[in-house]
Amino acid sequence: MKLLAIETSCDETAIAILACSGDEKNARFKILGNALLSQIELHREYGGVFPALAKREHAKNLVPILDAALEEGELLHEDTQAIPADKRDAIAKLLEREPGLEEQFFDFVSECEPPAIDAIAVTAGPGLEPALWVGINFAKALALLWEKPLVAVNHMEGHVLAALAREDSEDLVIKDIALPVLALLISGGHTELVLMKNWLEYQLIGQTRDDAVGEAFDKVARMLELPYPGGPEISKLAEMARESDDTSEFTLPRPMIHDATCDFSFAGLKTAVLNLLKNRTDISDTDKKHLAHEFENAVGDVLWKKTARALEETGAQTLVIGGGVSANKHIRRVFTDAVAKETPHVSLRIPTASLTTDNAIMIALAGYYRALRQDLAELEALKANGNRSLA
Ligand code: KG4
Ligand code: ZN
Repeated sequence: MKLLAIETSCDETAIAILACSGDEKNARFKILGNALLSQIELHREYGGVFPALAKREHAKNLVPILDAALEEGELLHEDTQAIPADKRDAIAKLLEREPGLEEQFFDFVSECEPPAIDAIAVTAGPGLEPALWVGINFAKALALLWEKPLVAVNHMEGHVLAALAREDSEDLVIKDIALPVLALLISGGHTELVLMKNWLEYQLIGQTRDDAVGEAFDKVARMLELPYPGGPEISKLAEMARESDDTSEFTLPRPMIHDATCDFSFAGLKTAVLNLLKNRTDISDTDKKHLAHEFENAVGDVLWKKTARALEETGAQTLVIGGGVSANKHIRRVFTDAVAKETPHVSLRIPTASLTTDNAIMIALAGYYRALRQDLAELEALKANGNRSLA
């Protein structure tokens, strides 16, 4: 099955086309085309993702990204297409709230043959609703025009499946997975431990009671006057401190580390950083490095302790870490070392770096798993849901 997948939940506009085969227990994915445009540079001056700007940029970039993905997949064949008036009207109505998109859309599709794809998958949530809607309306327009089935994807399921996937020559494969799977999902909007007992059935084991861990990275980075997104910046400084073997002169709390639940809290950690900085008139580069180092250590300690508790409580056989924060070197190291030492019976899977932050390949993986179950979306009923949850 050839699947075209669209991701616009946050500040990445991405489309991927994958040839998917096999079943849940043994699936293979050939990446035919993969185009992604990050808006990070544009949002940087706002110190975070600005939803109205994200929406406008998605609308501007979807057609060029589609063009690039189809081209790479050798699925683009020029030909003049007549679009029947009823379809044209329905599509115009779908795209009327996305300025500029309608014209670009018709210019593009009236010059190319319908591509040889079998279905269209699109992120339906969680994420920023205005941003999600652009992708959804675009997917609906394509599905209507090319008469393809639509699949609605939960963005977090995409992160879970991307973390389960392994590279196999040029392909991705999901196979030999021992259930239950425990997933630690850490991103800008989420911090949760989710158990997948059977394929695609989830149970929430723990979650943050306040800030998401990515949000904490971003906020602490702002306090240290580092640019957005803060995660990679903090990581860079902390790695420098580790390399020079400095011991940090700061001590930060490990919130809720001894509490008897699998829940997290990061607001206190952020406030602790703020309090340390309050008593300083000037913050030197060395201070920044030391703070980043200690902050990352505190986050790594809490994430592992809570995950270890969840592993013990659930008897999970496989552990995956997904979401943007799983790109963090220190966290990857902490988990790799701790699993080897403390829970060697558990198989740890961390996605390859390019699959950790938002992309459309992960949406295609989840879209395929949903399509295998005939879990298709009705065009009329498909809606963005910013808070869509897994469990
Ligand atoms: O999954 P993602 O790309 O988007 C959301 O769905 O939120 O995650 C973005 C988050 C941001 O908060 C960013 O600072 C964080 O992931 N992040 C990192 C790293 N790379 C990205 N946090 C820590 N270390 C990193 N290397
Ligand atoms: Zn994400």
